[in-house]
Amino acid sequence: MFKEKIVAAYEDLADSYNALIDHKPHNAYYDRPNTLKLISEFKGIHILDAACGPGKYAEILMEMGAIVTGFDISPKMVAHAKERNKNLGNFFVHDMTHPLDMITDSSFDTVVCALAMHYLEDWNLAIQEFHRVLKPNGTLVVSVEHPFFEYLYFKSKKYFDVEPVKATWGGFGKRIKMHSYRRPLNECIQPITSNGFYIDQLVEPKPVPEFEKRDPRHFKELNEFPGFMHIRAIKR
Ligand SMILES: C[S@@+](CC[C@H](N)C(=O)[O-])C[C@H]1O[C@@H](n2cnc3c(N)ncnc32)[C@H](O)[C@@H]1O
Repeated sequence: MFKEKIVAAYEDLADSYNALIDHKPHNAYYDRPNTLKLISEFKGIHILDAACGPGKYAEILMEMGAIVTGFDISPKMVAHAKERNKNLGNFFVHDMTHPLDMITDSSFDTVVCALAMHYLEDWNLAIQEFHRVLKPNGTLVVSVEHPFFEYLYFKSKKYFDVEPVKATWGGFGKRIKMHSYRRPLNECIQPITSNGFYIDQLVEPKPVPEFEKRDPRHFKELNEFPGFMHIRAIKR
């Protein structure tokens, strides 16, 4: 099944992902600075890190004074998140296509979901759950692969469809087949606005200068065409 393939890929990738995540250019100098810019408060703020991977976001958020809970579908990623953050934070295995039954209503100020929504065919339940666990006026910050980038990269002929796609990743030290879903822009916006949020920022990011020193070719490409897209939404 599609989901099992995604989990197997991340279980296989978890050790090298954890080893490289601090400085991997697309994460450290493109996704993270642009996502973190959309979070306005950290100190004493309760943040849910949805699909937390090896806990690098959690590490940064806790250094900035936030109280972080994180989950991920990959047990190995969760083990890395716990190890990286020692006794800080609360991390558990969870598949965000299922309800977050272990979390009470209105318990978080912010939910961050970085580079993971494209593993879900249908975003609605996850967004509904993010809405439920957020306090009134709470903030949801999501980063995803840019729908226009994916449309071109996967050579789609059906822009308006949500399509299962597959890519070979080589950037984490081993070659991995990664499955995900590409979707049109509207399918990134509508599940958010029709489930109780208004979008107050949509960012087509640029890489920060450090990216250029590590990967000049992609730095140039990302200054000409976006690879990711960042959305900040507020609970109505
Ligand atoms: C590209 S990584 C991003 C990790 C982390 N957010 C970061 O930016 O460093 C995507 C993560 O999504 C997780 N993931 C994929 N499908 C998921 C699901 N249905 N529920 C929870 N996590 C999922 C993967 O296991 C992986 O750790």
